[in-house]
Amino acid sequence: MAMQEQAIAWRQAGEDIGFVPTMGALHAGHERLVTRARRENQRVIVSIFVNPTQFGPNEDFASYPRSFEADRARLEALGVDAIFNPSVDQIYPSSFKTRVDPGPLAELLEGKSRPGHFAGVLTVVLKLFQLTQPKRAYFGQKDFQQVVLVRQLVRDFALPVRIVAVPTVREPDGLAISSRNAYLGPPQRAVAPSIHNALDGASNAFGAGVTDPAELEAIVRHLLDGTPGVAIDYVAVVDDTTLRRPVRTIAGNVLAVAVKLGPIRLIDNVVLGAERL
Ligand code: PAF
Repeated sequence: MAMQEQAIAWRQAGEDIGFVPTMGALHAGHERLVTRARRENQRVIVSIFVNPTQFGPNEDFASYPRSFEADRARLEALGVDAIFNPSVDQIYPSSFKTRVDPGPLAELLEGKSRPGHFAGVLTVVLKLFQLTQPKRAYFGQKDFQQVVLVRQLVRDFALPVRIVAVPTVREPDGLAISSRNAYLGPPQRAVAPSIHNALDGASNAFGAGVTDPAELEAIVRHLLDGTPGVAIDYVAVVDDTTLRRPVRTIAGNVLAVAVKLGPIRLIDNVVLGAERL
């Protein structure tokens, strides 16, 4: 049965579907999403689709890690009900014309460095939601701006799906787990935990009473500037819905950072004074 028919049949039978969209190259962060989806829904669908429209012309679409057989084994062990692994033509047939315009929030932070990225993400997410009919969809908090924009999409189009943001899974030394960590060579891997250490430093300062966003950002900059091989793209304290910098930082604001380690761009964030979005 095709994915959408199967999903509609499950919903008609009164079963809730939890959906985890992925681009494959699965890791412990994805496992956390799937485990949570498994706990909260009768059916779990995981998509594996490296979405060409969210990659810029000079980005890593061609070389993005692909490991379908290993991914399938991992997902079967987690007891998912369906793995949806469409071809590019299934998602974007030659007749495909419409694009989601993600609006002004997509021009900030990641959007500044990756023009067109969120249009591609929201377009594919909207289509995947239609094909999998989820009651709940699970996204990693590491891609914080993606969560904010998907929530905006859901509100704007009154989509009947709840977006669940799941806290970032980290290596023992604090590095946020990401499929792109596979690109890190030993020298870059050695300095990568400094990203989380810098966020931690600012988070502790917030806990100790520092509420000036510029001061919190300066703490991160200072800690990262002292790390060889790390070039800062942005450091920003933002409201978790508007993505604007608050006048005073409050609990629930997000401190987000993007850095380059040589050619590799990594992002991370911390929710200040709270565990989750
Ligand atoms: O976060 C990702 O892996 C992708 O952006 C997503 C949500 C699967 C859309 O392609």
